[in-house]
Amino acid sequence: MRIDVAFTPHGLSANEFQGRTVFVIDVLRATTTICTALYHGAKGVIPATSIEDALRLSQTLEHQDVLLTGERHAARIEGFALGNSPLEMTHDAVAGKTLVMSTTNGTLAFLATQGAKRVYVAAGVNLEQAGQIAKQVLNESGELLVLCAGRESAFALEDAYTAGRLAFEAVGGRWIRKGLNDAAVVCLDLVRRYGARWDRVFARSRAGQDLRAKGFGGDVDAAAQESSLHIVPQYHKRLITAGAMHGGDPPS
Ligand code: MLT
Repeated sequence: MRIDVAFTPHGLSANEFQGRTVFVIDVLRATTTICTALYHGAKGVIPATSIEDALRLSQTLEHQDVLLTGERHAARIEGFALGNSPLEMTHDAVAGKTLVMSTTNGTLAFLATQGAKRVYVAAGVNLEQAGQIAKQVLNESGELLVLCAGRESAFALEDAYTAGRLAFEAVGGRWIRKGLNDAAVVCLDLVRRYGARWDRVFARSRAGQDLRAKGFGGDVDAAAQESSLHIVPQYHKRLITAGAMHGGDPPS
C-alpha cells in the first residue's frame, strides 16, 4: 500500500501522475466551491489557467449557459459573474450552467494532473464521500496520490490537514506507519494534532485568517461543514463534473 501527498503541484512532473488516481484539494476555497456548485446543479466546471484563458474558453461555449467565476486576492474577478465563494453557488445561480473558473491556486492544480488515470475533487464538505472512493482505490490499485493546491507554490496548512483526513479515511481510520511518503506522515500528524477541529485548523492557517479579514468568514465556516455534500466530482478532459452522488439526493 502506498499513499503519497504532494503539498503543491509546483515542480511535479507528468511522470508523477502517469496512470495514477489523484485527489485534488484546495479546501479554502476552490474545491469546496466546486463541490458546492456541482451539488447545486451546475453542469460542469472548466478550470482555466488564467483570466485570459477563462475568457477565451467561455467564448467557445453557448453564451447563456456559461458563468465566468473566480478570484484574485480572494475577490471576484472584475467582469466575472461569480467569485470563488461556496455561498454564491446556490441552485438559482448555477443550476444548468457551465462554470469557467480561474482561481489563484486551485484551478492550476487540476491542470497539473495531466496523464492521471482518474482525478477526484476533495474537500472537507465531501470528506467521507471522497474517503470511501479513496479506500476503494487503495483496495483495488494499492496506491493513491493526494495533490494539495497549496498557496502560491508553497505548503498550506489547511490543505495538508484535509489531505491527512482523507488519507485517514482511506485506510479505514487506522494510524498506519508504512506506505506513506514524508508529506503524508506530516498530514497524519496534523490529524493527530487537530482531530476533527476544522475551526482550529482554519483559525491557524494564513488562508483562513486572510479570508476572514477580507469578509469571507462565511466561506471559511462553510468549508468546515464536514461531509455535508454527497458528491465526489471528477475531472476528465478539462471538465469537472458531478460524478456519482453518494447516498443522498441532490437538492432540487
Ligand atoms: C485558490 O484557488 O487560490 C483559492 O481557492 C483562493 C481563494 O480562497 O479564493
